[in-house]
Amino acid sequence: MKVGITGAEGRIGGYLRAGLADAHEISPFTLTPQQFESTAVDISDANAMNGVFAGLDAVIHLAGDPSPAGSWESMLNNNIIGTFNVLEESRRAGVKKVVFASTNHTQHGETMGASPEILDVSNPVMLRLGDYFNPSSIYGASKATGEIYGRLFARHHNVQFVAMRIGAIGNEDSPIRSAGTPSEDYVRAMFLSRGDLLTAFQKALEVDRDFTLAYVISNNGRRIFDMRETNEALGFYPQDDAETFFGS
Ligand SMILES: NC(=O)c1ccc[n+]([C@@H]2O[C@H](COP(=O)([O-])OP(=O)(O)OC[C@H]3O[C@@H](n4cnc5c(N)ncnc54)[C@H](O)[C@@H]3O)[C@@H](O)[C@H]2O)c1
Repeated sequence: MKVGITGAEGRIGGYLRAGLADAHEISPFTLTPQQFESTAVDISDANAMNGVFAGLDAVIHLAGDPSPAGSWESMLNNNIIGTFNVLEESRRAGVKKVVFASTNHTQHGETMGASPEILDVSNPVMLRLGDYFNPSSIYGASKATGEIYGRLFARHHNVQFVAMRIGAIGNEDSPIRSAGTPSEDYVRAMFLSRGDLLTAFQKALEVDRDFTLAYVISNNGRRIFDMRETNEALGFYPQDDAETFFGS
């Protein structure tokens, strides 16, 4: 399959470029020119996006501002307008599917404490994909907006859409750096290993449905997301568990 990856120079982009290269022909899209071959384009620039996805079968859309504390201006340009432009160019180019990097932050209205990465564990919950959006930041709201545009393009413009509500994946393939920090509870619930990330995106490229929602987290003992619908819809059964890295 010919697969475009936006945000290909980023953290997740780097893992997926490497992990998907054996099975797919990857076309990286980046904000600026890189040491590897890529198409440099700002996704918030509608004119610049015209024609860039010609010939692709699928697009993995990772480009955006990943910061839960990011500004409105950045969310509007990079996440909301940028995602719309990715969908619109996919429609124009006849791309069959967009796999979208959404976030756990679309649903943290009742679960986050004082800051975007402090989980309130005083009120245990098990959230479902069908629970309504409940963002705790404009970042979460910007990704929820992307999911809504995805549903529109899936239902009315013949572009399949897979919304991946990604947990927490950092520069190391381990959650242990969070031990003893304010974000430990959050990371223990949201940890996503590189192996599980890759499996989830492989499954997303295979699934043949108009619109799919999925939680992309590891099989964490302390998860707050119910994985059953994701298991079924995506065939994604994560293997790793943040708890195995912690002593207790
Ligand atoms: N890392 C996580 O734990 C996590 C969790 C949930 C969701 N996500 C989402 O996954 C995606 C990738 O995250 P990441 O951790 O690799 O972040 P990252 O910041 O490393 O990568 C994002 C990339 O997008 C590019 N980009 C930003 N604005 C752009 C624009 N206007 N035009 C073109 N490119 C642009 C940046 O140059 C950057 O390389 C993001 O959309 C993020 O919101 C990440």
